[in-house]
Amino acid sequence: MESVIGLMNRIRRVFAVFGDYGDDLTFLPALWNALPTIVVVGGQSSGKSSVLESIVGHDFLPRGSGIMTRRPLVLQLHQIEPGQEDYAQFLHTGKRKFVDFSMVRSEIQEETNRVTGKTNQISPLPINLSIYSENVVNLTLVDLPGLTKVAVEGQQENIIQEIENLVRSYVEKPTCVILAITPANQDVATSDAIKLAREVDPTGERTFGVLTKLDLMDCGTNALEVLEGRSFRMKHPWIGIVNRSQADINRNVDMIAARRQEHEFFATSPDYSHLANRMGSNYLAKSLSKHLESVIKARIPAIVSLIDKSIDKLEAELKHLGSPVDIDAGAQLYTILELCRAFDRIFKEHLDGGRPGGEQ
Ligand code: GDP
Ligand code: NA
Ligand code: MG
Repeated sequence: MESVIGLMNRIRRVFAVFGDYGDDLTFLPALWNALPTIVVVGGQSSGKSSVLESIVGHDFLPRGSGIMTRRPLVLQLHQIEPGQEDYAQFLHTGKRKFVDFSMVRSEIQEETNRVTGKTNQISPLPINLSIYSENVVNLTLVDLPGLTKVAVEGQQENIIQEIENLVRSYVEKPTCVILAITPANQDVATSDAIKLAREVDPTGERTFGVLTKLDLMDCGTNALEVLEGRSFRMKHPWIGIVNRSQADINRNVDMIAARRQEHEFFATSPDYSHLANRMGSNYLAKSLSKHLESVIKARIPAIVSLIDKSIDKLEAELKHLGSPVDIDAGAQLYTILELCRAFDRIFKEHLDGGRPGGEQ
Protein backbone atom coordinates (compact mmCIF):
# COMPACT_ATOMS: atom_id res chain seq x y z
CA MET A 1 0.00 0.00 0.00
CA GLU A 2 2.99 2.32 0.67
CA SER A 3 3.44 3.27 -2.96
CA VAL A 4 -0.22 3.94 -3.59
CA ILE A 5 -0.49 6.15 -0.50
CA GLY A 6 2.50 8.05 -1.78
CA LEU A 7 0.88 8.41 -5.18
CA MET A 8 -2.34 9.74 -3.69
CA ASN A 9 -0.47 12.20 -1.49
CA ARG A 10 1.49 13.61 -4.37
CA ILE A 11 -1.59 13.93 -6.55
CA ARG A 12 -3.23 15.87 -3.77
CA ARG A 13 -0.25 18.18 -3.42
CA VAL A 14 -0.25 18.92 -7.14
CA PHE A 15 -3.96 19.63 -6.92
CA ALA A 16 -3.40 22.01 -4.02
CA VAL A 17 -0.94 24.01 -6.13
CA PHE A 18 -2.87 23.97 -9.39
CA GLY A 19 -6.41 23.52 -8.09
CA ASP A 20 -7.86 26.44 -10.09
CA TYR A 21 -7.05 24.82 -13.40
CA GLY A 22 -9.00 21.64 -12.73
CA ASP A 23 -11.67 22.53 -15.28
CA ASP A 24 -9.16 22.58 -18.12
CA LEU A 25 -7.82 19.10 -17.53
CA THR A 26 -9.62 16.60 -19.66
CA PHE A 27 -8.12 13.57 -17.91
CA LEU A 28 -9.35 14.59 -14.46
CA PRO A 29 -12.57 12.56 -14.54
CA ALA A 30 -10.51 9.43 -15.21
CA LEU A 31 -8.19 10.36 -12.38
CA TRP A 32 -11.03 10.85 -9.94
CA ASN A 33 -12.57 7.59 -11.01
CA ALA A 34 -9.33 5.83 -10.19
CA LEU A 35 -9.51 7.12 -6.65
CA PRO A 36 -11.23 4.52 -4.55
CA THR A 37 -14.64 4.96 -2.93
CA ILE A 38 -15.93 2.41 -0.45
CA VAL A 39 -19.64 2.28 0.26
CA VAL A 40 -21.41 0.39 3.04
CA VAL A 41 -24.72 -1.16 2.08
CA GLY A 42 -27.12 -3.12 4.26
CA GLY A 43 -30.34 -3.24 6.15
CA GLN A 44 -31.11 -0.95 9.05
CA SER A 45 -29.00 -1.69 12.12
CA SER A 46 -26.98 -4.33 10.29
CA GLY A 47 -23.81 -2.67 11.60
CA LYS A 48 -22.82 -0.39 8.68
CA SER A 49 -21.77 2.61 10.73
CA SER A 50 -19.95 0.38 13.22
CA VAL A 51 -17.93 -1.27 10.43
CA LEU A 52 -17.00 2.10 8.92
CA GLU A 53 -15.83 3.40 12.27
CA SER A 54 -13.56 0.47 12.79
CA ILE A 55 -12.02 0.93 9.34
CA VAL A 56 -11.34 4.58 10.20
CA GLY A 57 -10.20 3.80 13.75
CA HIS A 58 -12.27 6.53 15.40
CA ASP A 59 -15.58 6.71 17.19
CA PHE A 60 -17.48 9.47 15.46
CA LEU A 61 -20.62 8.15 13.75
CA PRO A 62 -24.14 8.09 15.09
CA ARG A 63 -24.82 4.42 15.86
CA GLY A 64 -27.67 2.62 17.53
CA SER A 65 -30.78 0.59 17.11
CA GLY A 66 -32.91 3.23 15.38
CA ILE A 67 -32.55 4.90 11.99
CA MET A 68 -29.40 6.76 12.91
CA THR A 69 -28.00 7.46 9.44
CA ARG A 70 -30.50 9.59 7.56
CA ARG A 71 -28.25 11.43 5.09
CA PRO A 72 -25.31 10.03 3.13
CA LEU A 73 -22.02 10.79 4.84
CA VAL A 74 -19.19 11.18 2.36
CA LEU A 75 -16.06 10.72 4.38
CA GLN A 76 -12.66 11.54 2.96
CA LEU A 77 -9.65 10.18 4.78
CA HIS A 78 -6.39 12.05 4.48
CA GLN A 79 -3.08 10.77 5.70
CA ILE A 80 -0.97 13.41 7.44
CA GLU A 81 2.62 13.52 8.69
CA PRO A 82 3.32 11.59 11.90
CA GLY A 83 3.24 13.46 15.19
CA GLN A 84 0.24 15.67 14.43
CA GLU A 85 -3.05 15.34 16.26
CA ASP A 86 -5.95 13.77 14.34
CA TYR A 87 -8.72 16.16 13.39
CA ALA A 88 -11.87 16.39 11.30
CA GLN A 89 -13.42 19.10 9.15
CA PHE A 90 -16.87 19.40 7.61
CA LEU A 91 -17.50 21.12 4.33
CA HIS A 92 -20.46 22.96 5.88
CA THR A 93 -18.47 24.32 8.86
CA GLY A 94 -15.56 25.64 6.82
CA LYS A 95 -12.15 25.89 8.49
CA ARG A 96 -13.27 24.80 11.96
CA LYS A 97 -11.15 21.88 13.17
CA PHE A 98 -12.76 19.18 15.28
CA VAL A 99 -10.23 17.38 17.49
CA ASP A 100 -12.88 15.93 19.78
CA PHE A 101 -14.53 13.17 17.74
CA SER A 102 -17.63 13.07 19.94
CA MET A 103 -18.26 16.60 18.64
CA VAL A 104 -18.05 15.21 15.11
CA ARG A 105 -20.85 12.82 15.98
CA SER A 106 -23.10 15.55 17.38
CA GLU A 107 -22.36 17.80 14.39
CA ILE A 108 -23.43 14.97 12.04
CA GLN A 109 -26.64 14.61 14.02
CA GLU A 110 -27.34 18.35 14.00
CA GLU A 111 -26.53 18.74 10.34
CA THR A 112 -28.79 15.76 9.55
CA ASN A 113 -31.64 17.33 11.51
CA ARG A 114 -31.06 20.70 9.86
CA VAL A 115 -32.26 19.21 6.57
CA THR A 116 -34.65 16.48 7.66
CA GLY A 117 -35.91 17.80 10.99
CA LYS A 118 -35.86 15.54 14.04
CA THR A 119 -37.94 12.98 12.21
CA ASN A 120 -37.34 9.62 10.62
CA GLN A 121 -37.08 11.26 7.23
CA ILE A 122 -34.19 10.67 4.88
CA SER A 123 -32.41 13.15 2.63
CA PRO A 124 -30.15 12.32 -0.32
CA LEU A 125 -28.17 15.52 0.34
CA PRO A 126 -24.75 14.30 1.50
CA ILE A 127 -22.79 15.55 4.50
CA ASN A 128 -19.13 15.96 3.56
CA LEU A 129 -16.56 15.19 6.22
CA SER A 130 -12.77 14.95 6.05
CA ILE A 131 -10.67 13.16 8.64
CA TYR A 132 -6.95 13.87 8.91
CA SER A 133 -4.84 11.23 10.62
CA GLU A 134 -1.47 9.57 10.26
CA ASN A 135 -3.18 6.19 10.65
CA VAL A 136 -5.43 6.21 7.61
CA VAL A 137 -5.00 5.61 3.92
CA ASN A 138 -6.35 8.14 1.45
CA LEU A 139 -9.79 6.88 0.71
CA THR A 140 -13.35 8.03 0.37
CA LEU A 141 -15.88 6.09 2.42
CA VAL A 142 -19.62 6.54 2.27
CA ASP A 143 -22.08 5.75 5.04
CA LEU A 144 -25.66 5.40 3.85
CA PRO A 145 -29.13 5.04 5.32
CA GLY A 146 -30.15 1.41 5.72
CA LEU A 147 -32.29 -0.44 3.22
CA THR A 148 -35.69 -1.14 4.62
CA LYS A 149 -38.88 -3.04 3.88
CA VAL A 150 -41.39 -1.02 5.90
CA ALA A 151 -41.99 2.68 6.41
CA VAL A 152 -42.04 3.79 10.05
CA GLU A 153 -43.56 6.74 11.94
CA GLY A 154 -42.93 10.00 10.10
CA GLN A 155 -41.92 8.39 6.80
CA GLN A 156 -43.73 8.46 3.48
CA GLU A 157 -44.76 5.17 1.89
CA ASN A 158 -42.28 5.63 -0.96
CA ILE A 159 -39.36 5.79 1.50
CA ILE A 160 -38.44 2.17 0.74
CA GLN A 161 -37.89 2.88 -2.94
CA GLU A 162 -36.27 6.25 -2.18
CA ILE A 163 -33.62 4.67 0.03
CA GLU A 164 -32.96 1.96 -2.51
CA ASN A 165 -32.56 4.54 -5.28
CA LEU A 166 -30.21 6.54 -3.10
CA VAL A 167 -28.07 3.51 -2.30
CA ARG A 168 -28.12 2.39 -5.91
CA SER A 169 -26.88 5.79 -7.11
CA TYR A 170 -23.68 5.17 -5.12
CA VAL A 171 -23.07 1.49 -5.72
CA GLU A 172 -23.77 1.33 -9.44
CA LYS A 173 -20.59 3.30 -10.17
CA PRO A 174 -18.23 0.64 -11.50
CA THR A 175 -15.38 2.10 -9.45
CA CYS A 176 -17.17 1.80 -6.13
CA VAL A 177 -16.19 -0.97 -3.73
CA ILE A 178 -19.24 -2.38 -1.97
CA LEU A 179 -19.19 -3.56 1.62
CA ALA A 180 -22.33 -5.68 1.73
CA ILE A 181 -23.12 -5.71 5.44
CA THR A 182 -25.19 -8.69 6.49
CA PRO A 183 -26.07 -9.57 10.09
CA ALA A 184 -25.32 -13.19 10.96
CA ASN A 185 -28.36 -13.42 13.23
CA GLN A 186 -30.67 -13.07 10.22
CA ASP A 187 -31.13 -15.33 7.23
CA VAL A 188 -28.37 -14.48 4.73
CA ALA A 189 -30.72 -15.52 1.93
CA THR A 190 -32.82 -12.43 2.68
CA SER A 191 -29.87 -10.00 2.83
CA ASP A 192 -30.83 -6.81 0.99
CA ALA A 193 -27.17 -5.93 0.75
CA ILE A 194 -26.27 -9.11 -1.12
CA LYS A 195 -29.29 -8.80 -3.38
CA LEU A 196 -28.41 -5.25 -4.43
CA ALA A 197 -24.69 -5.99 -4.71
CA ARG A 198 -25.34 -8.94 -7.02
CA GLU A 199 -27.52 -6.77 -9.19
CA VAL A 200 -24.97 -3.99 -9.70
CA ASP A 201 -21.85 -6.20 -9.51
CA PRO A 202 -22.82 -9.60 -10.91
CA THR A 203 -19.23 -10.93 -11.03
CA GLY A 204 -18.61 -9.92 -7.41
CA GLU A 205 -15.33 -8.30 -8.39
CA ARG A 206 -15.94 -5.24 -6.22
CA THR A 207 -18.12 -6.66 -3.47
CA PHE A 208 -16.94 -7.71 -0.02
CA GLY A 209 -19.44 -9.69 2.02
CA VAL A 210 -19.22 -8.65 5.67
CA LEU A 211 -21.00 -10.84 8.18
CA THR A 212 -21.64 -8.87 11.38
CA LYS A 213 -23.16 -9.85 14.73
CA LEU A 214 -21.56 -13.30 14.83
CA ASP A 215 -21.73 -12.98 18.63
CA LEU A 216 -25.51 -12.68 18.47
CA MET A 217 -26.29 -15.95 16.73
CA ASP A 218 -28.57 -18.39 18.52
CA CYS A 219 -26.82 -20.86 20.78
CA GLY A 220 -25.90 -24.00 18.87
CA THR A 221 -25.87 -22.30 15.46
CA ASN A 222 -22.91 -20.89 13.57
CA ALA A 223 -22.08 -19.21 10.27
CA LEU A 224 -19.53 -21.73 9.02
CA GLU A 225 -21.53 -22.57 5.89
CA VAL A 226 -21.20 -18.96 4.81
CA LEU A 227 -17.73 -18.14 6.15
CA GLU A 228 -16.20 -21.26 4.62
CA GLY A 229 -17.76 -20.39 1.27
CA ARG A 230 -20.14 -23.33 1.00
CA SER A 231 -23.26 -21.19 0.75
CA PHE A 232 -23.61 -17.70 -0.74
CA ARG A 233 -20.17 -18.02 -2.23
CA MET A 234 -18.56 -14.71 -3.11
CA LYS A 235 -15.60 -13.83 -5.30
CA HIS A 236 -13.95 -12.23 -2.26
CA PRO A 237 -14.44 -14.58 0.70
CA TRP A 238 -16.83 -13.44 3.43
CA ILE A 239 -15.28 -11.71 6.40
CA GLY A 240 -16.87 -12.19 9.81
CA ILE A 241 -17.00 -9.24 12.21
CA VAL A 242 -17.90 -8.64 15.83
CA ASN A 243 -18.70 -4.97 16.42
CA ARG A 244 -19.56 -3.41 19.73
CA SER A 245 -22.97 -4.33 21.07
CA GLN A 246 -25.45 -1.71 22.17
CA ALA A 247 -24.44 -2.49 25.77
CA ASP A 248 -20.79 -1.83 24.81
CA ILE A 249 -21.81 1.49 23.25
CA ASN A 250 -23.78 2.44 26.36
CA ARG A 251 -20.75 1.60 28.51
CA ASN A 252 -18.43 3.60 26.21
CA VAL A 253 -16.21 0.63 25.39
CA ASP A 254 -13.44 2.18 23.29
CA MET A 255 -12.21 1.00 19.95
CA ILE A 256 -9.00 -0.60 21.20
CA ALA A 257 -10.92 -2.66 23.75
CA ALA A 258 -13.46 -3.54 21.05
CA ARG A 259 -10.71 -4.80 18.74
CA ARG A 260 -9.31 -6.90 21.57
CA GLN A 261 -12.73 -8.38 22.30
CA GLU A 262 -13.22 -9.16 18.64
CA HIS A 263 -9.82 -10.81 18.37
CA GLU A 264 -10.54 -12.93 21.45
CA PHE A 265 -13.93 -13.89 20.11
CA PHE A 266 -12.42 -15.46 17.00
CA ALA A 267 -9.26 -16.82 18.60
CA THR A 268 -11.12 -18.67 21.35
CA SER A 269 -14.26 -19.70 19.46
CA PRO A 270 -14.59 -23.47 19.00
CA ASP A 271 -16.42 -22.76 15.73
CA TYR A 272 -14.21 -20.07 14.21
CA SER A 273 -10.71 -20.36 15.67
CA HIS A 274 -9.46 -22.15 12.55
CA LEU A 275 -10.54 -19.11 10.52
CA ALA A 276 -9.30 -16.51 13.02
CA ASN A 277 -6.52 -15.18 10.79
CA ARG A 278 -8.98 -14.16 8.08
CA MET A 279 -11.73 -12.72 10.26
CA GLY A 280 -12.24 -9.41 12.05
CA SER A 281 -12.03 -5.67 11.43
CA ASN A 282 -8.25 -5.56 11.04
CA TYR A 283 -8.35 -8.25 8.41
CA LEU A 284 -11.17 -6.45 6.59
CA ALA A 285 -9.15 -3.22 6.50
CA LYS A 286 -6.10 -5.08 5.19
CA SER A 287 -8.09 -6.89 2.51
CA LEU A 288 -9.58 -3.61 1.35
CA SER A 289 -6.18 -1.96 1.10
CA LYS A 290 -4.86 -4.82 -0.98
CA HIS A 291 -7.86 -4.74 -3.27
CA LEU A 292 -7.65 -0.98 -3.77
CA GLU A 293 -3.97 -1.08 -4.50
CA SER A 294 -4.49 -3.55 -7.33
CA VAL A 295 -7.44 -1.57 -8.69
CA ILE A 296 -5.48 1.68 -8.79
CA LYS A 297 -2.39 0.10 -10.27
CA ALA A 298 -4.46 -1.45 -13.03
CA ARG A 299 -5.84 1.97 -13.97
CA ILE A 300 -2.56 3.86 -14.08
CA PRO A 301 -1.60 3.01 -17.70
CA ALA A 302 -4.94 4.28 -19.01
CA ILE A 303 -4.59 7.51 -17.07
CA VAL A 304 -1.04 8.03 -18.27
CA SER A 305 -2.15 7.72 -21.86
CA LEU A 306 -4.93 10.27 -21.28
CA ILE A 307 -2.47 12.68 -19.70
CA ASP A 308 -0.09 12.24 -22.61
CA LYS A 309 -2.89 13.09 -25.01
CA SER A 310 -3.64 16.25 -23.00
CA ILE A 311 0.01 17.24 -23.20
CA ASP A 312 0.11 16.72 -26.96
CA LYS A 313 -3.01 18.78 -27.40
CA LEU A 314 -1.72 21.60 -25.21
CA GLU A 315 1.63 21.67 -26.98
CA ALA A 316 -0.13 21.85 -30.33
CA GLU A 317 -2.30 24.69 -29.08
CA LEU A 318 0.71 26.63 -27.84
CA LYS A 319 2.51 26.17 -31.13
CA HIS A 320 -0.57 27.30 -32.97
CA LEU A 321 -0.72 30.50 -30.91
CA GLY A 322 2.76 31.24 -32.24
CA SER A 323 3.71 34.87 -31.92
CA PRO A 324 2.44 37.37 -31.21
CA VAL A 325 1.00 35.43 -28.27
CA ASP A 326 -1.84 36.75 -26.22
CA ILE A 327 0.16 36.89 -22.98
CA ASP A 328 -2.68 35.80 -20.71
CA ALA A 329 -3.83 32.92 -22.87
CA GLY A 330 -0.23 31.77 -23.29
CA ALA A 331 0.48 31.88 -19.55
CA GLN A 332 -2.67 29.95 -18.81
CA LEU A 333 -1.78 27.26 -21.33
CA TYR A 334 1.74 26.98 -19.96
CA THR A 335 0.43 26.51 -16.44
CA ILE A 336 -1.94 23.77 -17.52
CA LEU A 337 0.82 22.13 -19.49
CA GLU A 338 3.06 22.17 -16.42
CA LEU A 339 0.29 20.62 -14.42
CA CYS A 340 -0.15 17.85 -16.96
CA ARG A 341 3.57 17.18 -16.93
CA ALA A 342 3.54 17.00 -13.15
CA PHE A 343 0.77 14.39 -13.20
CA ASP A 344 2.53 12.57 -15.97
CA ARG A 345 5.76 12.29 -13.96
CA ILE A 346 3.91 11.12 -10.86
CA PHE A 347 2.04 8.37 -12.67
CA LYS A 348 4.95 7.19 -14.76
CA GLU A 349 7.09 6.83 -11.66
CA HIS A 350 4.43 4.58 -10.22
CA LEU A 351 4.29 2.55 -13.39
CA ASP A 352 8.01 2.00 -12.91
CA GLY A 353 7.50 0.63 -9.45
CA GLY A 354 7.38 3.90 -7.52
CA ARG A 355 11.04 4.79 -8.00
CA PRO A 356 11.71 8.46 -8.76
CA GLY A 357 12.83 8.67 -12.36
CA GLY A 358 12.09 5.00 -12.79
CA GLU A 359 15.72 3.89 -12.46
CA GLN A 360 16.57 0.53 -10.92
P1 GDP B 1 -26.33 0.59 10.99
O1 GDP B 1 -27.72 1.05 11.28
O2 GDP B 1 -26.29 -0.45 9.93
O3 GDP B 1 -25.39 1.72 10.70
O4 GDP B 1 -25.83 -0.16 12.31
P2 GDP B 1 -25.07 0.42 13.59
O5 GDP B 1 -23.60 0.37 13.37
O6 GDP B 1 -25.67 1.74 13.97
O7 GDP B 1 -25.42 -0.70 14.66
C1 GDP B 1 -26.77 -0.95 15.01
C2 GDP B 1 -26.83 -1.62 16.36
O8 GDP B 1 -26.32 -2.94 16.26
C3 GDP B 1 -26.01 -0.95 17.44
O9 GDP B 1 -26.71 -1.03 18.64
C4 GDP B 1 -24.75 -1.78 17.52
O10 GDP B 1 -24.20 -1.79 18.81
C5 GDP B 1 -25.26 -3.16 17.18
N1 GDP B 1 -24.25 -3.98 16.49
C6 GDP B 1 -23.65 -3.76 15.29
N2 GDP B 1 -22.80 -4.73 14.98
C7 GDP B 1 -22.81 -5.61 16.01
C8 GDP B 1 -22.10 -6.83 16.29
O11 GDP B 1 -21.27 -7.33 15.51
N3 GDP B 1 -22.40 -7.45 17.48
C9 GDP B 1 -23.32 -6.94 18.37
N4 GDP B 1 -23.52 -7.59 19.50
N5 GDP B 1 -23.99 -5.80 18.13
C10 GDP B 1 -23.73 -5.13 16.98
NA1 NA C 1 -28.87 1.91 13.19
MG1 MG D 1 -25.79 3.75 10.32
